[in-house]
Amino acid sequence: MKYNIRVYQAKKSNLSKVDFNNIPFGQTYSDHMFVADYKDGQWQNLQIRPLSHLSFHPGLMALHYGQSFFEGMKASKTNAGVPMLMRPEMHAQRMNHSAERLCMPAIPEALFVQALEKLVALDKNWIPQTPGAALYLRPFMFATDETLGVRPSNTYKFIILTGPVGPYYAKPVKLWVEQKYVRAVAGGTGEAKAAGNYAGSLYPMKLAAERGYDQIIWTDAFEHKYLHEAGTMNLFFVMDGKVITPSTDGEILKGITRDCFLKILKAKGIPHEVRPIHIDELVQSYKNGKLEAAFGAGTAAVVSPVCEITYGDFKMTVPEMKPNSIPALLKAEIEGLRNGTIPDTYGWMHPIETAAVVTAPKKKKVLVLEPA
Ligand code: COI
Repeated sequence: MKYNIRVYQAKKSNLSKVDFNNIPFGQTYSDHMFVADYKDGQWQNLQIRPLSHLSFHPGLMALHYGQSFFEGMKASKTNAGVPMLMRPEMHAQRMNHSAERLCMPAIPEALFVQALEKLVALDKNWIPQTPGAALYLRPFMFATDETLGVRPSNTYKFIILTGPVGPYYAKPVKLWVEQKYVRAVAGGTGEAKAAGNYAGSLYPMKLAAERGYDQIIWTDAFEHKYLHEAGTMNLFFVMDGKVITPSTDGEILKGITRDCFLKILKAKGIPHEVRPIHIDELVQSYKNGKLEAAFGAGTAAVVSPVCEITYGDFKMTVPEMKPNSIPALLKAEIEGLRNGTIPDTYGWMHPIETAAVVTAPKKKKVLVLEPA
């Protein structure tokens, strides 16, 4: 099905203000955003329009009860200049999984993909081509009913913001193994990209930062022994020649980069396992000199090498990422797929047609800033 997305173009672009050699994560937004309203049981008012502030009633349900989630994706350009998405249908599926868990409406996969295609085509000049940089895409949905009763909202907004980004972590990260606070428990919302999961992580992250750590390794809620994820990324360990990542088991985000890495490892015949990882196994492997690498994997993080892991008083110094190591190979494979230098044998890359995007007639005034 083809959706009727009206496009209202910005009068003036902000592109010339961007320093593409210095683009910290999440601070620069491109000219346009996609906005849709859910009302009367359907998605309507589908628009791409200039990025603007929105104004809301203070009773907005998302603000009170956190009915809100997001996705994270990237658009890249091949060296020949063709904009690409990577596995947009997987993101649509994960998004709708988050929506279901939070009692929010699904977005039809075709609408999601068409909105991304049109938005990225319109702002294609915002896609950086410097190594390690990309156009970050942030689809998100939130409840817009203006009422204080605790129930699912009847109305929602779905928005996609985009902005050029550099690497999420500029250098290898130090991780603190958390033994008091919890990110997720089976049956909770850990597998969804619920906004509240991130809110709950901020205080323990602040404590970890005060001790000099960049991120937390979340552990299971009952024993604090099984390693989960690092909040902004899934975790992989290379122990004794084998790549191991924790099984998600409903508590860990099913990362799409994580899934890509598992498929790449399989395709290349690199030994790997998906299973629970006990902290004692990591400590033992370190003590025996068998911990070869540890790294985070995520859309924003791509491959983020870990340089240190601390468990209580025990500090493990993780070897640096070497040029021919497994994490370096995974990073090169993802970057090569994104810039088109590695053929897409996986069928993941989604080229975007950039023939002129048809915009709505100029005369019409469209900046509807209130929720419909
Ligand atoms: C992403 O990798 O896109 C994420 O969602 C992590 C984000 C919290 C920075």
